[in-house]
Amino acid sequence: MKSRPVAVLDSGIGGLPYLSWLQEHLPQESLIYVADHANFPYGEKSPDQVREFVVDLGRGLVDRYDPKLLLVACNTASVLALDALRSALSIPVVGVVPAVKTAVGIGKGTVAVLATPRTVEDGYWENLAREFGSHRVVKGYAAPDLVTMVEEGAPDPERRARLTSWAQRLRADGADVVVLGCTHYLHIAEDLGRELGSSVTVVDSRDGVGRQVARVLRDRSLVSTGRQESDRLVFTIDPLRHTENLGELEARYRTWAQRFDLEYAGPWAVAGAKVR
Ligand code: DGL
Repeated sequence: MKSRPVAVLDSGIGGLPYLSWLQEHLPQESLIYVADHANFPYGEKSPDQVREFVVDLGRGLVDRYDPKLLLVACNTASVLALDALRSALSIPVVGVVPAVKTAVGIGKGTVAVLATPRTVEDGYWENLAREFGSHRVVKGYAAPDLVTMVEEGAPDPERRARLTSWAQRLRADGADVVVLGCTHYLHIAEDLGRELGSSVTVVDSRDGVGRQVARVLRDRSLVSTGRQESDRLVFTIDPLRHTENLGELEARYRTWAQRFDLEYAGPWAVAGAKVR
């Protein structure tokens, strides 16, 4: 019998560092990575919209790839749509949350939670801050500009200027620990860390989330006994709405597939919030 893959979902390339963790620690598992380009960016859509297209995509994903577990490697989708996804799908769904619990144990200054506008507005990280970090100042910062910069790329002077300006702002607010509350930011963790300087610690949730995936696979007896398929990457497109050049998009995602040792499985046409 063919082994079923673990699916990893994000609005774009944000979830790839999480997939990388799985590749390293669970090499026996086959992975399918879905970049939901058709609905990018999640962080600037309404909560209802995000819930609708994430649930539709989850259903489409199950039909198309028959995964045994879905990792929602996106903070925005996790805070807004995890419950809906779990009700809609019969497979286990693991989400990500900003690593506030880890962060409040580091340093003494402000804990800065960098995330998308929807994640910052949502109360989830504030609940975590109240629960674990009532002794600390924990502040949310919406940085959709960094999401776009990571997803679409930016020439070096612009990229550097943006990171410098964010680092200055966070340092001016007394931050000594920065939580990467959007998975896209993991791609700039090193550069942002350099701009912030050695007195500021940058944290993310990759390790905890990866271990949770491993735990769920174990608990549900879903661990693969032998690898069967290569890891793949697909990205969604909406042929009716997209004015972008498909060739450019293909080249972009092909490059990301190569960087993360994935087989490029091409575009997947979806319509609006409905997956075909
Ligand atoms: N990478 C996603 C997150 O972790 C969403 C970015 C976006 O599409 O706005 O929140």
